[in-house]
Amino acid sequence: MTDAHTAGPFIAAIDQGTTSSRCIVFDRDGRIVAVDQKEHEQIFPKPSWVEHDASEIWTNVQEVVASAVEKAGITAEDVKAIGITNQRETTLLWDKHTGEPVHNALVWQDTRTDALCRELGRNVGQDRFRRETGLPLASYFAGPKARWLLDNVEGLRERADRGDILFGTMDSWVIWNLTGGPDGGVHVTDVTNASRTMLMNLHTLEWDEKICESIGVPMSMLPEIRSSSEVYGTATVGALAGVPVASALGDQQAALFGQTCFAEGEAKSTYGTGTFLLMNTGEKAVNSYNGLLTTVGYRIGDQKAVYALEGSIAVTGSLVQWMRDQMGIIKSAAEIETLASSVEDNGGAYFVPAFSGLFAPYWRDDARGVIAGLTRYVTKAHLARAVLEATAWQTREIVDAMSKDSGVELAAVKVDGGMTSNNLLMQTIADFVDAPVVRPMVAETTCLGAAYAAGLAVGFWPDTDALRANWRRAAEWTPRMDADKRDREYKNWLKAVERTMGWIEEEN
Ligand SMILES: Nc1ncnc2c1ncn2[C@@H]1O[C@H](COP(=O)(O)OP(=O)(O)OP(=O)(O)O)[C@@H](O)[C@H]1O
Ligand SMILES: [Mg+2]
Repeated sequence: MTDAHTAGPFIAAIDQGTTSSRCIVFDRDGRIVAVDQKEHEQIFPKPSWVEHDASEIWTNVQEVVASAVEKAGITAEDVKAIGITNQRETTLLWDKHTGEPVHNALVWQDTRTDALCRELGRNVGQDRFRRETGLPLASYFAGPKARWLLDNVEGLRERADRGDILFGTMDSWVIWNLTGGPDGGVHVTDVTNASRTMLMNLHTLEWDEKICESIGVPMSMLPEIRSSSEVYGTATVGALAGVPVASALGDQQAALFGQTCFAEGEAKSTYGTGTFLLMNTGEKAVNSYNGLLTTVGYRIGDQKAVYALEGSIAVTGSLVQWMRDQMGIIKSAAEIETLASSVEDNGGAYFVPAFSGLFAPYWRDDARGVIAGLTRYVTKAHLARAVLEATAWQTREIVDAMSKDSGVELAAVKVDGGMTSNNLLMQTIADFVDAPVVRPMVAETTCLGAAYAAGLAVGFWPDTDALRANWRRAAEWTPRMDADKRDREYKNWLKAVERTMGWIEEEN
């Protein structure tokens, strides 16, 4: 995608995602100059356990950075800053002297901490730390994953007590390595990533001593919490050595930033491995009474933090991958649309992909996937349709919860992410939510947001207004479904959801 007419300087963004790592070089108009991307292995040691090899990830990050810089035909001197964005909650512990991970990273989808989370709830239950952290106790979050590693990796607790072990989500891991690793690497995280650990107090933006103690994670191994947009250090290795590392945001918060949702009430929904709808709630942390999370949206330098309400859906794009890789029903992700379009409707079938329990608005670790409404009539094409409808119905549930919690009715859904190339899906979302769906020109909003935050930190862009001016609409879908039909179908969906609950029974 090299554009020979694009003049520098540039910003590079590194997106360390769940399935791949990418690096994108952007110009001042927020246009993509070059991209490189590399997938890493998904390790499934047991049902519901998901791991990544953090050394493989760091190698891939270095490769995609080198290759994106090469494709752009530029050098480190042309790049004013590096921005980091990352899969959130995925948890790593490593040895600070050698830089060796002590275990594979535990991925956000991994549910091995569900019993631990129940135990941590004591007699209070899931909301024990909600007031301070904005989160329910669920296997999704990082703190209990770190505790699991400390309890289960031989000798690790002692090494941690001696001060030899560092904790980090993937932002911390990438920044530490990029800035020198064992030779002076900076050990930091940003407020958005820290807000997903269950260890940070949302109101003070500092580690919460009491909660760290209750969860059993020593504060000495935690990174320093910084803003999302400031210079943390300088890259010392790789193709961008010498360039300041100037932003970090969890991928969903980066997408909020990349969609330029800078005003209260603005929201975006990102359709990738999972789907995450975030709404900017300004300088107040809004409590949710409808199963959403309260999280940090972003913080620019020493300005006040901006908060967000979030509806998280664990499985959307990964259900399409499952149809391709595990079932072999389609050969490519795009084929799901062709297959689904070959029939008029779902034939009565509903697919609730509760593969890692149900996230928002239910937060049920005990749920597992269900296909409901099967008859002899149902074909693989109906199932393909049910797969796409699952994403759309889950969006509808989140939008409903969001309007109850925030009092804001979404005038339109701003979308981005890999699944937005699916027209049938976008139309179905417009139909089920009964609101227009709008997609911007740059659907890579995750990288774009990280680039924007890094560019702001070094004065490459003057302010957020300059970023807004870059946002351009590329496509729009308007609702055209009959209201009675929508209501009937929604009722069926909710019946199917009910059938996923309580599948995993407590073992003693
Ligand atoms: N045409 C399509 N129809 C439906 N789903 C699609 C289509 N093309 C891609 N996908 C799905 O989109 C997902 C990839 O999107 P994207 O690259 O935005 O994911 P991601 O969540 O950013 O990845 P990562 O988790 O690594 O960051 C995959 O799960 C894939 O199955
Ligand atoms: Mg992503």
